[in-house]
Amino acid sequence: MKIGIFDSGIGGLSVLHEAYHYLPEQNYIFYADTEHVPYGLKTPEQILSYSIGITEFLLEKGVEAIVVACNTATSVAIKELRKRYSIPILGMEPAVKPAVEGTEKKRIMVIATPVTIREDKLKDLLHRVDENHRVDLLPMPRLVEFAERTEFDSDDVIDYIKKQFEPYNMEEYCALVLGCTHFNYFKPAYRQIFGDDTLLIDGNHGTVKHLAEVLGIELSNTPDNVVTFDDTHKMLELAKTEYYYSGKPIADASELERLRILHNRLEFVRKK
Ligand code: DGL
Repeated sequence: MKIGIFDSGIGGLSVLHEAYHYLPEQNYIFYADTEHVPYGLKTPEQILSYSIGITEFLLEKGVEAIVVACNTATSVAIKELRKRYSIPILGMEPAVKPAVEGTEKKRIMVIATPVTIREDKLKDLLHRVDENHRVDLLPMPRLVEFAERTEFDSDDVIDYIKKQFEPYNMEEYCALVLGCTHFNYFKPAYRQIFGDDTLLIDGNHGTVKHLAEVLGIELSNTPDNVVTFDDTHKMLELAKTEYYYSGKPIADASELERLRILHNRLEFVRKK
């Protein structure tokens, strides 16, 4: 089956990477809207219009399902996309439910883009699942910039995260929900700051499992096999993926090399 996965940028690669673990037999088209990243600082109208354009592009390429691998685009556009197009379109939302259900008393911090935090979709979700009002929301837009620059462990990254958390007593928190797909790359930085006891919860596994259910396809029974690529040729052949940046196929050797490095980074941070 051919599955389209899109995001404003390289955040969505973390969903694609998880799909390689659980659905390695499928074909993928990965689309990063690098001309318009970051979505988290755009208007809802802009994000909706980009999302419609990308969906039409992917449909023309013959995809049978689409994953909006972007919490921001999901919160703004998912309803409209589902209204307009008949193939399965899956979205992503911050994994608040598993965080609330999997922990007891302490607080939970959701980090996301400003748009995701402002939109009603997240408010509705909290209304449904956060009965004891344990969840706080914190925008972290600069992490998207850092991620796009492939800067994950620098002093600037650590300083920025620490500064955003300064008003909070992190001792009161048991879990950090990564409500933006770009935030997966920084797991070692969160660990360095919050230690090993804070749960880091992302929505990738849940999204891929849901995709399998919707498409009626089996999950791999070896999901924890290591997925790294020694060279870009293997990345393209083994994982059967076409990559696009804002509608242009990625053929440039240095760009492909960047994607290879990012996949290897995602493997490295997967179980952190
Ligand atoms: N990766 C996206 C998300 O999950 C959006 C990042 C951005 O472009 O601001 O929200």
